[in-house]
Amino acid sequence: MLERISVIGAGNVGATLAQRLAEAELSRVVALVDIVDGVPQGKALDMLESGPVYGYDTKVVGSNSYDIVKGSDIVVVTAGMPRKPGMSRDDLLEVNTKIMTDVCTNIKNNAPNAMIIVVSNPLDAMCHVALQASGFPHNRVFGMAGVLDTARFRTFIAEELDVSVEQVNAFVLGGHGDSMVPLVRYSNVAGIPLTALMSQATIDKLVDRARKGGAEIVGYLKTGSAFYAPSASVTEMIESIVKDKKKILPCAVYLTGQYGANGLYVGVPVKLGRNGIEEIIEIELDAAEKKMLQISIDDVAANVEKIKGVAAV
Ligand code: NAI
Ligand code: 2OP
Repeated sequence: MLERISVIGAGNVGATLAQRLAEAELSRVVALVDIVDGVPQGKALDMLESGPVYGYDTKVVGSNSYDIVKGSDIVVVTAGMPRKPGMSRDDLLEVNTKIMTDVCTNIKNNAPNAMIIVVSNPLDAMCHVALQASGFPHNRVFGMAGVLDTARFRTFIAEELDVSVEQVNAFVLGGHGDSMVPLVRYSNVAGIPLTALMSQATIDKLVDRARKGGAEIVGYLKTGSAFYAPSASVTEMIESIVKDKKKILPCAVYLTGQYGANGLYVGVPVKLGRNGIEEIIEIELDAAEKKMLQISIDDVAANVEKIKGVAAV
């Protein structure tokens, strides 16, 4: 068990994540920070008071100050604006770049040895801002998106075949945007390739739905975006780190030549353990997959170019 995990942003993703972390008892303390007066304090107290009923001893604390982040082993950043209907993740670029810069400067000053897991959108560009603002090494700054995108793809596959989600393995590569790349060739159910279980037309339909999975939820909610599956996805990453499980999960990581990308955050399979990103795993891609991934990498690069005008990144 770690000593302290902090969550910055006590909104939908942040508060749900804090609750999941408290219930999982992955750290002695879960600290929740937000700029809105009373919100992190009230939500943290409410979670603390669930402990006796639910049977956890995690100490949940909330504050508007970064004092409670001191000594954190992991800090998750969910601070920022979510999408509204009609908005793309990229529309959040300017406002969230400023927020991410401020938040990561505070993390650097209060928890210089922590790992940072970025959730705020547009995800890949926000990881870039977090890396620059914190000055932390690459293995300690990474983003959550692939676990979520993969979970959506797995859900749709399981639903289509009426099988357990537990036996569905799938992979999604690339940036967390509409050009993400669900890898059909590396997806299977109990080891049986997807192509042996459903028609190409059905696969195409599920791939399209997975790509647009975030927008589907925004369309229903109207005032915000998904938070149950996103917080579950971050929890899986944190569990792999805390328990040093070394799970291979798709995460947004800083590439230095892998997959043909240099100096950019892109979603690829990594080994996640006690030291954060312990290995970037390069899998072989065919020509069509490489082409799709390149489009996604180009989209991330375009966003990183845009933030150069917003902050000193
Ligand atoms: P939300 O609006 O419910 O919560 C955001 C919270 O951040 C608010 O409570 C707000 O007061 C707080 N905040 C704003 N500026 C802050 C600052 N400077 N310091 C501390 N807190 C600050 O939004 P939600 O739904 O929780 O989403 C959060 C972010 O996560 C959004 O950018 C959203 O697009 C992104 N997201 C990313 C996903 C991914 O797969 N990477 C999945 C779901 C959401
Ligand atoms: C999602 O995919 C909005 O990025 C968020 O749900």
